Amino acid sequence: MIVIASDHAGYQLKREIIEHLKSNNIEFIEKGCMNGESCDYPLVAKEACAVITSGQADKGILVCGTGIGISMAANKVKGIRAALCTDTYMARYTRLHNDANVLCMGGRVIGPGAACELVDTFLSTEFEGGRHQRRVDEITQIENEQ
Ligand code: RB5
Repeated sequence: MIVIASDHAGYQLKREIIEHLKSNNIEFIEKGCMNGESCDYPLVAKEACAVITSGQADKGILVCGTGIGISMAANKVKGIRAALCTDTYMARYTRLHNDANVLCMGGRVIGPGAACELVDTFLSTEFEGGRHQRRVDEITQIENEQ
């Protein structure tokens, strides 16, 4: 299960990604802005990340205007490793090396075709583990020290 959410600036791209998820029979929970009206991306990130930390979903897709604000907010949530990606190389390597559990994109930055390719890459790539596990553990350690 994945969770997908956006603010108003990411709303249109969220709709396009949802159509893509449906046509690929990928189950999702939708959160955040439901009609394109103005809302605050930190609250959307918090609401969507709670779906992951509660165990209802194992990955998330978050969209705001640039993808920056929503990724900043998501990364404040314990256990979330959110990656802002603009190309498939980033989407692939943030899974392989960082074990990212949230993909962030900018609805004012990237078009729907490219965004859906990022989603497919992100969802189909497994974490490599090995030396990368140690580094991910070091991220968690920083989190636990705060
Ligand atoms: C909303 O106008 C915009 O600031 C927001 O979607 C996002 O881009 C913030 O980082």
